[in-house]
Amino acid sequence: MEPLGDLAPDQVPERFAKLRARFDREAGVAHDENSWKSLRDFWAGRKSGVLTQVADAWLKPAKPDLKRAIGQALNELKAHVEAALESRRLAIEAAADQGALEREREDLSLPGVIRALGTRHPLRQTFEEIERIFLSLGYSVVAGPEMETPYYNFEALNIPEHHPARDNMDTFYMSTPPGAAALLLRTHTSPMQVRTMEKKQPPVRIIVPGKVYRRDNPDATHGFIFHQIEGLAVDTDITFCDFAGTVEYFVREFLGPKVKTRLRPSYFPFTEPSVEVDATCVFCGGKGCNVCKQSGWIELFGAGMVDPAVYGFVNYDAQRLSGFAFGLGVERLTQLKYNVNDLQLYYQNDMRFLRQFA
Ligand code: PHE
Repeated sequence: MEPLGDLAPDQVPERFAKLRARFDREAGVAHDENSWKSLRDFWAGRKSGVLTQVADAWLKPAKPDLKRAIGQALNELKAHVEAALESRRLAIEAAADQGALEREREDLSLPGVIRALGTRHPLRQTFEEIERIFLSLGYSVVAGPEMETPYYNFEALNIPEHHPARDNMDTFYMSTPPGAAALLLRTHTSPMQVRTMEKKQPPVRIIVPGKVYRRDNPDATHGFIFHQIEGLAVDTDITFCDFAGTVEYFVREFLGPKVKTRLRPSYFPFTEPSVEVDATCVFCGGKGCNVCKQSGWIELFGAGMVDPAVYGFVNYDAQRLSGFAFGLGVERLTQLKYNVNDLQLYYQNDMRFLRQFA
């Protein structure tokens, strides 16, 4: 800054006004901490700041009659400079805080990790659909152990030790300690017929969804694990007509109203008479095609009237009681409903397959 020079008495207001205007100009462009510090040192610095210079050059040598006016003007300038420096300091600090906040703010606009929604597995859908149908008929759903004793899996179902019906139900046996009861992986859900009747007096109306195991090599129509839904109804007045009507109702509900059913004689040790339930082919409508081998019919599941011998194992009065049972293959029914040509597709977790059931 150029030297202040002398101050004539009539120049006091004007010279101070000029200083003040200059300060305001410089303060107006001090936008950060460094320029603010230079501003402060230049104007309010103790040794050589403008205010000190004014005091030294104008106030001290002033004649008594002027001292008062200069002193007052200097005080006003000083107050103005200090107040302005303080408010600029606050503004600069606030701006710095704001900047830091903005830099540190979490960017919530970043997309999150999108997890693809899965679909219900086709077998699960079939389970639910079948459960819905039988629940509406007054059945309840029960579950049983996948590890069974030979007694429940075979004997109490009228399949004694050397019965040929055990052949196609060969299975996995657990190694159990000597003397302990043998354990096997159940080959069907039928053991739950026995377990249920042991515990509950008639009327009985249950279905049993679950996994079953057989010693099979996997191919398009076989697996060593598959799924069944057992059904059992026992009461004092259940006839073969009730059985046939229930089966027909179920098949129509599940496969559609156009499908016809037929009962074909068959054999199971725990039902008598036993049948295979067939339906008119869902693919050709009964005209004959590759799937039904030109017969117009496809086999759905096994069923029959409960063999009185089974009642003997659970202390039911075979004279008074009658009932029917059925064993639905969930893979097979799903296959027929959705035209799936390879059973292994169910277990391979290929999304291209699974998404078709969404
Ligand atoms: N448990 C038989 C099977 O797995 C099916 C069945 C159940 C047959 C109930 C008749 C009655 O092959």
